[in-house]
Amino acid sequence: MKISPAARLRGELTLPGDKSISHRAVMFGALAEGTTAITGFLSGADCLSTIRCFRALGVSIEETPEQILVHGRGLNGLRAPCETLYTGNSGTTTRLLCGILAGRPFESVLDGDASIRRRPMKRVILPLAEMGAQILSEQGCAPLRIQGRKLHGIHYQLPVASAQLKSAILLAGLSAEGETSICEPAPSRDHTERMLRAFGADLTSAPGRASVRPSALHAVPVSVPGDISSAAFFLVAGLIVPNSEIVLKNVGINETRAGILTVLQAMGGDIRIENRRLAGDEPVADLVVRSSSLHGIEVSGRIIPALIDEIPAICVAALFAEGETIIRDAAELRVKETDRIAVVAEEFAKCGADLTPTEDGMVIRGGAPLHRARMDARTDHRIAMCEAVIGLVTGCEIKGAACADVSYPSFFEDLKTLTE
Ligand code: S3P
Repeated sequence: MKISPAARLRGELTLPGDKSISHRAVMFGALAEGTTAITGFLSGADCLSTIRCFRALGVSIEETPEQILVHGRGLNGLRAPCETLYTGNSGTTTRLLCGILAGRPFESVLDGDASIRRRPMKRVILPLAEMGAQILSEQGCAPLRIQGRKLHGIHYQLPVASAQLKSAILLAGLSAEGETSICEPAPSRDHTERMLRAFGADLTSAPGRASVRPSALHAVPVSVPGDISSAAFFLVAGLIVPNSEIVLKNVGINETRAGILTVLQAMGGDIRIENRRLAGDEPVADLVVRSSSLHGIEVSGRIIPALIDEIPAICVAALFAEGETIIRDAAELRVKETDRIAVVAEEFAKCGADLTPTEDGMVIRGGAPLHRARMDARTDHRIAMCEAVIGLVTGCEIKGAACADVSYPSFFEDLKTLTE
């Protein structure tokens, strides 16, 4: 894929649906009584993996261009799968399914692509085993053989702020005896808490804490907001490409996700948040972005979970900012779809970026002269899209750009509409 330098970006975009919320809508719909109608669903490869797995568990799911209908089977209605549940590239599918399957009275096997087979699963295996499930793994990684058992509630202190881990435990807690509660070192995204409550779960939560009691779920319609993690690429592109003004419509701005807005504004970015409203249980807004002179800042501490997936995009902004940007406390980046600290450092260096990776982040010295380069997406959707944003300034060629499909199948077409 070749990207040419753009003179300006202009226009309006409606972003595809939020990936985290789309996964949850299908999963909770499958476990609910009744039919869940989902609008704004993200038909990216990851969420399609979730649909495929739930069909293999006996759930009937209809896909039309307007909506997804999930015919729920109730908490006890899932059927033993006849095949390995293939989760593709999706960590959310893999980890949340562990929590859902831990209390089912059958055995299931989860497996995914080469990236999934490298990602740490011990973090979910340990608490679920403490609740009574048996999960066999290949040294803490997929494939995972889950022997569902009767579960009991636990109180669990998460070793890392992780919404996938938190969600796996809370989902297991829906059918465990007694109360299940978690507490995490910093608040991670809270879509599970919001949506489970909307589906009728007996769940209470506060930032960084949640607890659930055995509950039945009831179908409710879900309207999925645009994904701020996908908006991130255009936010940064709109700031760094001169003479740009773009409007991103209907973007989810849940504060456990919107850290990138705080950071880009603190770097001097002209981003206006307009038309704030609610889409179901989630706050959304339209974002107006204009080209800006940026300066480097430090990004660290409790805000990290609220922008963890956007750090590669923030690194792109930092390349074009004056001075140094320092990212700390983000060691989780090393266990995402790729080791995003290493991959950002190696790939961005190909176009002349001046940056130094550290154990838990990186230091980026902005303003280094950048040049056209051939970069590799390294099978990571977010890296592919970051490289395209750099290319809007320098021009570039991206090897393996098609992996953007995991979270944003129409990314390159949408980018084109803004450059024409
Ligand atoms: C996700 C949670 C985040 C994020 C991932 C999606 C989710 O991971 O990086 O892309 O849908 O729950 P953590 O589990 O590390 O929070």
